[in-house]
Amino acid sequence: MRITTTINGERREVDDVWEGESLLYVLRERMGLPGSKNACEQGECGSCTVYLDGVPACSCLVAAGQVEDREVTTVEGLADRDTLHPVQQAFVECGAVQCGFCTPGLVVAAHDLLARCQRPSDPEIREALAGNLCRCTGYEKILDAVRVAGGRLAEATAGQ
Ligand code: FES
Ligand code: FES
Repeated sequence: MRITTTINGERREVDDVWEGESLLYVLRERMGLPGSKNACEQGECGSCTVYLDGVPACSCLVAAGQVEDREVTTVEGLADRDTLHPVQQAFVECGAVQCGFCTPGLVVAAHDLLARCQRPSDPEIREALAGNLCRCTGYEKILDAVRVAGGRLAEATAGQ
């Protein structure tokens, strides 16, 4: 089947899609967007998190047929062309990226949290990222990155 959907602000058509194929597969294998990672393919790890109509979702659990005429934003879509989003930049600067498998999903989850609350408490950060598993960092550097990004976003908002 053909699916027509909006990916990172761009209307896209993809042919020869099998209805049961996951959105994650379509993004990675058919659309050339390998940012979202496939770590468990069971909705357990969060590494495949994307926005679907503005709400974070595990793309491994979304069937391709469900995204017809909807809006998908991946980790690639958060950057402004060659300029990283402040959340992405903070992850790099704070050493929150090691193997990087968890990073795309964590960036999307952190982006979603900071869109709602730019100065979250540590428990709020931990709760927001609870569905995203990391094997490498021990989470402290990830929390640092979210705090740094939130601070910068709050400063930018105050300066407007
Ligand atoms: S790959 Fe989708 S939740 Fe793990
Ligand atoms: S950096 Fe390796 S799983 Fe998180």
